[in-house]
Amino acid sequence: MRTRLVVANWKMNGSFALLDEMLSILEPLMDKTASEVVLCPPDVLLSSMKSAVEGTQIAVGAQNVHSEVSGAFTGETSAGLLQECGVQWCIVGHSERRNLFAETDEFIRSKTETLLKHGIRPILCIGESLEQREAGKHEEVVIAQLGKGLAGLAVDDQNRCVVAYEPIWAIGTGKTATPEEANSMHKIIRKELESLASPEVAEKMQILYGGSVNAENAETLLSQSEIDGALVGGASLKTAAFPQIVVAGS
Ligand code: PGA
Repeated sequence: MRTRLVVANWKMNGSFALLDEMLSILEPLMDKTASEVVLCPPDVLLSSMKSAVEGTQIAVGAQNVHSEVSGAFTGETSAGLLQECGVQWCIVGHSERRNLFAETDEFIRSKTETLLKHGIRPILCIGESLEQREAGKHEEVVIAQLGKGLAGLAVDDQNRCVVAYEPIWAIGTGKTATPEEANSMHKIIRKELESLASPEVAEKMQILYGGSVNAENAETLLSQSEIDGALVGGASLKTAAFPQIVVAGS
């Protein structure tokens, strides 16, 4: 049985005040949900979040990391520092990083390895563009990204990874994949994990759906057999919506 995981990706949004408010609403809900909850605010909020969530079931996540452990990489953050900030999870391979910052599968893969060496669990995002879907290439694209992200990692490391399927055309657009479309892609991903990793790894790995998840559609998406949780962008900044997503289906 896979634990449901709900991850908030605040992107370049939020504030100290929003963090306080969101945590004060979420904390009392944690007894009422079977979901694990991870909040990924911008890096400057991480160390405050570390103290604020101490003793709660809410985990600290980051949105990005550099693959190198230190050095002359102006503006970047190392996995070691994230670890000091109490970070337990980190998003890698988000389509905004792939597209706006030209991150390659190789770079994403090296970030994943660095995170694992620092005891931080990677959330590997994969997903196709609208053109790729319309051209019928979505499965091929997603499987290639998955392979480049996870193939060849030690089993223990693969077991510490989570995959987030995020069709790019559904991110921030208000268009979600239908629950059936999402579920069928998750099935394909899990099947691929069987050969890429092992049937045991495939069975255990949480596969999240991301792309316009909101308080209204969360319940139906999360009730699909292969959807083990959600990666939530826009709605994770809303103090009314995100808590509802956290308790959806509980
Ligand atoms: P969205 O973003 O929920 O705003 O579509 C999801 C994401 O980019 O992770």
